[in-house]
Amino acid sequence: MKRFENKVAIVTGAGSGLGEATALEFAKEGASVVLADISDQTAELSEKMNADGYSTIFVKTNVADEGDIAKLVEQTVAKFGKLDIMFANAGINIERTLENLETDDWQKVIDVNLKSVYLSDRYAIKQFRKQGTGGVIINSGSIHSLVAREGLAAYAATKGGVKLLTQQIAAEVSRDGIRAVAIAPGYIKTPLINTLSQEVIDNLVNLHPIGRLGEPIEVARTVLFLASDDASFITGITLPIDGGYTAV
Ligand SMILES: NC(=O)c1ccc[n+]([C@@H]2O[C@H](COP(=O)([O-])OP(=O)(O)OC[C@H]3O[C@@H](n4cnc5c(N)ncnc54)[C@H](O)[C@@H]3O)[C@@H](O)[C@H]2O)c1
Repeated sequence: MKRFENKVAIVTGAGSGLGEATALEFAKEGASVVLADISDQTAELSEKMNADGYSTIFVKTNVADEGDIAKLVEQTVAKFGKLDIMFANAGINIERTLENLETDDWQKVIDVNLKSVYLSDRYAIKQFRKQGTGGVIINSGSIHSLVAREGLAAYAATKGGVKLLTQQIAAEVSRDGIRAVAIAPGYIKTPLINTLSQEVIDNLVNLHPIGRLGEPIEVARTVLFLASDDASFITGITLPIDGGYTAV
C-alpha cells in the first residue's frame, strides 16, 4: 500500500515550484490532491496529472481571500469526502528594504504569505474537527523565518510570523491529534528566485555550506515525511531544509 493511499491533501500555490513538486509527490504516493492556485494555468497541471492516472482537482483560489479558502475546503470535501493534510505553501516576495517598501507592497506580502496561512490552517482545522479525525498542517516558512537578509523587510516579517503561528497552533491543537509544523527552505531553484541577478545567486550559493541551491524535490520529500506517520511525534517545529544556511 502506498504511503498516502486514502489521504486527501490540499496544496496551495500548487501551480509552480515547491507546490507543484509536492503535489506530484503526494499523488505518486497515492493521495488525492487538491491543487489550489490563483493561476488558471494550474488547471492544465491537474488535467495532465489526471491523464497520468493520478487523482486531482484544481480549485482556483486566492489564498488571501477568506471566501476562497472556505470554498476550497468545501470543494475538497465535496469531491473527496474529507481532508487530511493542508500544505499552506503559496507565497510571494517583493524584494525591498524597509525604507523602499511602499505600504501597499507590505500589505500584499502580509496577505499572501501570512493571512493566507491563518485562513488555510483555520479552515483545515475546522474540517478536521468536523470529521472527528486528526490531520496535519504544514506551513511554508523559510530560512527567513529564522534569519534576515537585506531587502526582505516584508517577506521575513511574514515568514517569522508563520513560525510563531505554527507554534501557537501546535500548542492549541496537538492534544486533539492534529499536528502543525512549518518548513524553512533555503534558496531553492523555482521561479520565485528567477528575478534575482546571477551575482546575487552566486552569493547565495556561497551562503549554503552544501555549496549549491536546493531542488524542489528535496523540499517535497521532506514535506511528505512531515505529513506521514513517520513524523507522528513531531509538532510545532520549523524545520530547516537549507543545505546548512542557518547552521553557520
Ligand atoms: N524558492 C525558494 O527559494 C523558497 C525558499 C523558502 C521558502 N519558499 C516559500 O515556498 C513557497 C513556494 O515558493 P516557490 O518558490 O514554489 O514559488 P513560485 O513562485 O514558484 O510558486 C508560487 C505559487 O503560488 C501561487 N500564488 C501566488 N499568489 C497566490 C495567491 N494569492 N493565491 C493562490 N496562489 C498564489 C503562484 O501562482 C505560484 O503558482 C512560498 O511560500 C515561498 O515563500 C521558497
